[in-house]
Amino acid sequence: MHDTLLLFGATGDLAQRYLFPSLLHLLRDRMLPATFRVVAVGRTEHDDAGFRDWLRERLSGEDDRDAHALEDLLARTVYFSIDLNDQASMVRALAPYADRPSVSYLSTPPDLFAPACLGLKAAGLLEGESRLVLEKPIGRDLASARAIDAILKDALDEARIFRIDHYLGKAPVQNLLALRFGNTIMEAVWNNHWIESVDIVVAETAGVDGREGYYAHYGALRDMVQNHMLQLLALIAMEPPSALDADSVRDEKRKVLHALRPMTAAQAARDSVRGRYGDGVVDGERARGFQHDSEVETFVALRAYIDNWRWAGVPFRLVTGKRMPARATEVVVCFKPVSHWVFERPGKARARHNRLRMRLQPEETIELGLMGSLAAPEWGATELQPMSLDLSMSPTPHRRIAYERLMVDALKGDQTLFVRDDEVEAAWRWIDSVSSAWQHAGLPLHDYAAGSWGPAAAAAFLPDTLAGNRRRGP
Ligand code: BG6
Repeated sequence: MHDTLLLFGATGDLAQRYLFPSLLHLLRDRMLPATFRVVAVGRTEHDDAGFRDWLRERLSGEDDRDAHALEDLLARTVYFSIDLNDQASMVRALAPYADRPSVSYLSTPPDLFAPACLGLKAAGLLEGESRLVLEKPIGRDLASARAIDAILKDALDEARIFRIDHYLGKAPVQNLLALRFGNTIMEAVWNNHWIESVDIVVAETAGVDGREGYYAHYGALRDMVQNHMLQLLALIAMEPPSALDADSVRDEKRKVLHALRPMTAAQAARDSVRGRYGDGVVDGERARGFQHDSEVETFVALRAYIDNWRWAGVPFRLVTGKRMPARATEVVVCFKPVSHWVFERPGKARARHNRLRMRLQPEETIELGLMGSLAAPEWGATELQPMSLDLSMSPTPHRRIAYERLMVDALKGDQTLFVRDDEVEAAWRWIDSVSSAWQHAGLPLHDYAAGSWGPAAAAAFLPDTLAGNRRRGP
C-alpha cells in the first residue's frame, strides 16, 4: 500500500465534505500505513499551521476517537498553495515527495487535469509505481475526454490511472453484484424474458447553489448521467464476469455501454425530458430557482435501450433532478406479469408486478415485492395483496463514505471500482448522441417548481415507488 497521498483541490468543497473526512475515518480505523502522509495542494494561501487550523475547524466533531484521529491526520499533513499552471512551482514544491511511490489525487476542475499532469510528471511524481486519481467529469464530450486522455497516457499507463466514480464505492452498489451473481434465482430471471423495465432514479433535494460556474457548462446529463447513472446501468445489465478482477468487470461494463442505442432526433421527444427548477419550496424552506444564461438542465429523464440479446426491448428509465421533494436514489427492477392470472381479487389489471427495489439513499435497503394472501382464505375468494420481502443487510454499525473504500483501493492499486478509458469513451459516445438529438430536435427545457418531481411531461418516467407519483402512460 502506498503511503503518500498528494491531494490537489485540498481547499475545495469535495475535499472538505468527503475526502478529508474519509481519511480521518480510515486513520481512526487503522486502515492506513503507519507512515501515511498527505501533501495537500490548494489555491488558497495558507502556511502549514494555517491550513491545519482551517481543516480542524471544518472536521471537528463530537466523537473523541475522531478528535484523536483528526490531530493525527493534521500532524501528517503539509500544505502548499500552488498555481497548477505554474510548472516550475509545482516541481520546486513537490519534487521532494517523489522519494517513494505516491498517489496524486486531482480533485480539481477538469481544465487543470492536463497542466497538473504535466507538472506532476516534471516533478517525478508519476514515475515507477506512482498512480494518478482523477475526479469526474473527464471532459464534457467524447472529443474533450479523448484529448485529456491523450495527455494522461503520455505521462503514465492505464494501469496506473484511477478514474473515480464515487457511486462505485457505495456499499449497496457492491451488494448489487452480490445479489446478481451470488444467487441462482436472480440469474434465472435477469433478462428480457422476465424483466419488463428498469428504473434508475437519483433525486436530490439540494440545488446547484455554489457550483453555478461548473454546472452551467455541464447540466444534469453530463454531471450525473454520463457517470454515476450509466455506471449503475452497466452493473445492472452486464454479463456475469468470469472473475471479479478489474479488467474482467470493466470488460463487461464496457460492452453494455457500447450496446446502448444512440438517441436520434426523431426519438428525443418521446424518450427524453429536460427541465430546470424555478422558485419553490423544498423541505419547508423557500428555494430560489436556478438562474443562469446557459441553457443547461437541472433535471433529465431518459428512456435508454440496450441493443443486445439479454436486454432487447427492455426500457431503462434514467431520471435525475436537483431540488426534488425528497432525496431518493434507487434502482427498481420491474418483472413481467404472471402469464395467467387466476385470482378474482384483485383482478388481473390490479395485480402488482413483482419488483426488486434497491435503495441507495437515504436508507440502504433491498426489498422484493411479491403478491401473497395474508388473510385466512378458508371462506370466500382468496384476496392477494402486495407484500414486501426485506432483503436488506442488517444495518451497518456506521455507514462509510463511498470515498473511504476508493481511497484504500487507490493506495493499494486495485482498479476494480475505477472506470477504465474505454468505458468513459463509450459513455460519452452515448451522451453525445443524446445531446445532439436534443439540439436537432430543439427539445424544450421545461420549468418545474423547486420541491416538485420535475416537469409534468416527465411523470411517465418516474417509478411509482417515489411518494406521490402515479406513473402515467406505459
Ligand atoms: C456528484 C455531482 O458527482 O454527485 C453532484 O457532481 C451530485 O452534482 C453528487 O450532487 C451526488 O452524489 P451523492 O453521493 O450525494 O448521491
